[in-house]
Amino acid sequence: MIAILGAGSLGRLWAALLPAGRVAFIPRPDNKASASSLAYRFQSISGAISTVRVPWLAVGEQPELILTTTKAGDTTEAMAGVIDRFSSDTPVILFQNGLGSQQAVAARWPDRPILAASTTEGANRPEPKLLVHAGTGHSWVGPMTDSACHHLNTVVALLSTSGLTVHPDANILQRLWQKLVINAGINPYTALLDCPNGEILASSLYQDTIDDLCRELAELMQASGHHEESAPATLRQQIEKVARSTAKNTSSMRADVRQGRTTEIHYINGYLVNLGKELGIETPVNQMLTERVTLLSSHQQEQTDG
Ligand SMILES: NC(=O)c1ccc[n+]([C@@H]2O[C@H](COP(=O)([O-])OP(=O)(O)OC[C@H]3O[C@@H](n4cnc5c(N)ncnc54)[C@H](OP(=O)(O)O)[C@@H]3O)[C@@H](O)[C@H]2O)c1
Repeated sequence: MIAILGAGSLGRLWAALLPAGRVAFIPRPDNKASASSLAYRFQSISGAISTVRVPWLAVGEQPELILTTTKAGDTTEAMAGVIDRFSSDTPVILFQNGLGSQQAVAARWPDRPILAASTTEGANRPEPKLLVHAGTGHSWVGPMTDSACHHLNTVVALLSTSGLTVHPDANILQRLWQKLVINAGINPYTALLDCPNGEILASSLYQDTIDDLCRELAELMQASGHHEESAPATLRQQIEKVARSTAKNTSSMRADVRQGRTTEIHYINGYLVNLGKELGIETPVNQMLTERVTLLSSHQQEQTDG
């Protein structure tokens, strides 16, 4: 059995695609729901719609693998609520975007086999009971703790039973950094400008700050040992290539702000600000983007709540 913690968009995508009968959601410790399963409609990448019914993991049941698909800011608390129920050698794969939450989980449970994943699969919920597989791509998985290393090939094989393309990556931090660069250079701009990815490129906010942002990213990558492809001009090219190839897409940060949900800014540009403080590197653009997105998001949440 593969158990999934976090029955949101990404969790429901894996639950829909992994073999039926081999997957269950982990209930919250305070879950009072009497239903034994969670049902929703699933729109596959081809557009076909089917109904999926995923059981809640029964008390005492021991999964062979745990996927954690909560938002970065919820992950440590979500894990802390349930992890003691599970065998200490059950591998856990973290699917969060950005950086910071993966290291926090690995530091809190250093003896458990903790792995991290980076995925270009895309899933969203236009309605509460409809999960749309919006884009397909690749997923990479790699170890965050020593004891995770010998689980790598087994967990990749288990995830591959979904039919999605999954690769092992012994240097998953390097891959998470590559995605962090792209997210840091696209997501906050789309949230602040309330526009799809491609439209940031012509804006004065982007034009006026992107070179300084890329210099900050390059300096942080160099200082933290991620030297590959870290010249500022190369980073800008990488950011703009993705902004153009996903020009019509709405980033998760823009979607979160619009829906009054907490963004992952503290695990993207905010992570870079904190790393800069640790390393003695100035990060004024990352700081400005973090502060402005945080402010915008809290205004939006007040409006949604009130
Ligand atoms: N969606 C994608 O296409 C995609 C792609 C790549 C990476 N990611 C990353 O994957 C992570 C999840 O993204 P998402 O889009 O799936 O977010 P999401 O739709 O908000 O799902 C997160 C789920 O976690 C649940 N949760 C929160 N705290 C919990 C707890 N203590 N115990 C159990 N469940 C808890 C939430 O429940 P409530 O709603 O009740 O709070 C929600 O259902 C993010 O870091 C995201 O950046 C997502």
